[in-house]
Amino acid sequence: MDPILTGLLKPKSVAVIGASTNPDKIGYKVVLNLKEGGYEGAVYPINPGAADILGYKCYPNITDVPYVIDAAIVTVPAKAVLDVTRQCGEKGVKGMVIITSGFAEVGEVELEHEIVRVAQSYGMRIIGPNVVGTLSNSDKLNASFAPFLPLEGKASLVTQSGALLIAIDAATYTRRVGFDKMISIGNMSDVDIADMITFLNEDPETSCISLYIEGFKDGRKFMDEARKTHKPIVALKSGKSSHGAAAAASHTGSLAGSAKIYDAAFKQSGVTQADDLNDLFDRTLALSLQPRMQGDNLLILTNGGGIGVLATDSAERFGLPLHFAPADVQEELKKHMPEFGSAKNPVDMTGMAGNEWYYETTQFSYAHPWVDGLVVLYCETAVTVPEEIAQAIYRGVQDSGVTGKPIAVSFVGGERSDKAMAWLIEHGIPTYNAPDNAVKALATLREDYRMEQMRQTDGYTPEGINPAAAREIISRARSLGRSALTEIEAKRVFTSYGLPVTPTDLAVSEDEAVAMAEKIGFPVVMKIVSPDILHKSDAGAVKVNIKTVDAVRENYRLILENSLNYKSDAFIDGVAVQEMAPWATEVIVGSVNDATFGPTVMFGLGGIFVEVLKDVTFRVAPINTVEALTMQDEIKSAAILRGVRGEKPRDKQALADVLAKYAYMVHDLRDEVAESDANPVIVYEEGKGVKIVDARIILTKK
Ligand code: ACO
Repeated sequence: MDPILTGLLKPKSVAVIGASTNPDKIGYKVVLNLKEGGYEGAVYPINPGAADILGYKCYPNITDVPYVIDAAIVTVPAKAVLDVTRQCGEKGVKGMVIITSGFAEVGEVELEHEIVRVAQSYGMRIIGPNVVGTLSNSDKLNASFAPFLPLEGKASLVTQSGALLIAIDAATYTRRVGFDKMISIGNMSDVDIADMITFLNEDPETSCISLYIEGFKDGRKFMDEARKTHKPIVALKSGKSSHGAAAAASHTGSLAGSAKIYDAAFKQSGVTQADDLNDLFDRTLALSLQPRMQGDNLLILTNGGGIGVLATDSAERFGLPLHFAPADVQEELKKHMPEFGSAKNPVDMTGMAGNEWYYETTQFSYAHPWVDGLVVLYCETAVTVPEEIAQAIYRGVQDSGVTGKPIAVSFVGGERSDKAMAWLIEHGIPTYNAPDNAVKALATLREDYRMEQMRQTDGYTPEGINPAAAREIISRARSLGRSALTEIEAKRVFTSYGLPVTPTDLAVSEDEAVAMAEKIGFPVVMKIVSPDILHKSDAGAVKVNIKTVDAVRENYRLILENSLNYKSDAFIDGVAVQEMAPWATEVIVGSVNDATFGPTVMFGLGGIFVEVLKDVTFRVAPINTVEALTMQDEIKSAAILRGVRGEKPRDKQALADVLAKYAYMVHDLRDEVAESDANPVIVYEEGKGVKIVDARIILTKK
């Protein structure tokens, strides 16, 4: 583990700079929390006017302390922080947690940078500024102004909002979701979420990393670190609406970014997303207590038909639809229910189910190899005692002789059920008060397994590419003062990266156009090539389905005439003559350079699907072909590619190859290409490939 971050988050000694004797001040509360939390390391309050604070000897300056100090918690006003940073550097502390607000989030960016520069010159790290502090149950460390340590548990929280840390801290006791560490990361002037992921991945007390994110400065760093972890990560991302994004910007100075690109980045780096705060608790509970679900077979045991049906609906909603249990499983389960029960799945033992049936069915089901994950539901009845049922379920799991398989439970009832739930959670079984949450827990563990597998798939490097040729085309266009490539240039760039474009040539005379059309084969398409005319159809400068030599000549003249009518001073390169690709399914592939994540690739079906329905999906480039296939499956109109109304399936494999090559290209040319698209791309039947009909590349500003 990083020794500096370890010193900062698991310190053996702490100084509180700006400690106060005034109980209303944050500098007092931090010292009080260290004391009341039971911190066993040394505490050194720093205050020029006090001799003693809460029984700890006080020093006027950190440099006066004659002992080694790992972490300095800073609660002096903003204007004093730079000096304090130098003093900490002189003293040789490992790092500072700067609680003070009033830096980048209010426009004091330069002061914040200067503090980081000074800290770095001494080899120190900084958490904050603008934070609540850090908490760690395993170190009995409450170096914060949050009121107390959270309920003990195996998850650790990193949050950009300090207030949310305080709220979650208190709620851990009512929600029964335990945490070991809670780290308020604030403005992330130095230590950021990615650093915390790396640290917590190696922290033996953390089994699951929970995040509250407003925005990253460096999205790629987050993705790289998240991909390297072996622990589950669950993130709640705020600022997804335009108003929310503006609020995030003024809160911690974060760039909230496009929600779709964040969604993609999380998926690609194996991070489960929570929809809201409740969902963050639910998913954290499951991920911190249970192993990943390795297969699709979910079995549900219940004593209530209604809650069984609700859970079944939820299973489908959460992407884990139920399958009927195999005959041998049903046969065995039938022994533990009355005649009118059902052993199919959900397994309804009926309201007659007591402790024994719960014990026996849990033990059998949990041990059975067909079952990849188990959900046990219980609704309170007059003939059962919830706590006894809870114990029966727990014993069933213990006595099954099996480990490494996930289970979640739901108890629906009143106070007695509530107590039973608490008992099960204490014994490591995530338990919820609604059946859908128990199913969601298993769906989360399944999703986490799938993402873990995805993280392990290889990268993608296309063969036989010629990036130098692409760069030459781009630099020629730049030398002519252009910020966009012509269609022919863009297609040549695409071809340099092995992308299948329709054959296209540039004619500068009627005779050349005829010769090219004859070489390509009729029918052909003809279009103007001019850096000054980007919307060629609007100018009447695109003609399709040209079938004869005469028509080539006639259209050549017409295209030039229409173009000059449209823009009399347009610079004309010539007329493109290209193959008229037979029509099939039309899709769009595009790219934009995102401010947080860099080059991203977009995919969707063409026409109304993209223009009206906005049915598109994104990935941060590059991607491999497995991810490219997933992109095709996740758009709402995915069925069209699978083949509808008797049509044959489309060539998804060839399309995946195009998507992966495209993503490789835009990543490789990220310094040159600001945005691009291949539109339309025609996808033929399985085995018959893909053709890019039109290409557009806008260059980066240099
Ligand atoms: N060295 C040592 N002690 C110093 C120094 C110094 N260089 N300078 C000042 N002090 C002492 C002061 O004398 C004072 O002690 P005293 O009470 O004995 O006089 C103490 O440090 C604090 O200084 P004050 O000027 O009294 O400042 P105050 O406590 O009012 O505020 C604070 C300081 C809390 C850092 C404030 O500036 C601030 O930033 N508050 C916001 C904190 C926050 O909300 N953080 C984000 C959390 S996230 C969320 O949203 C909840």
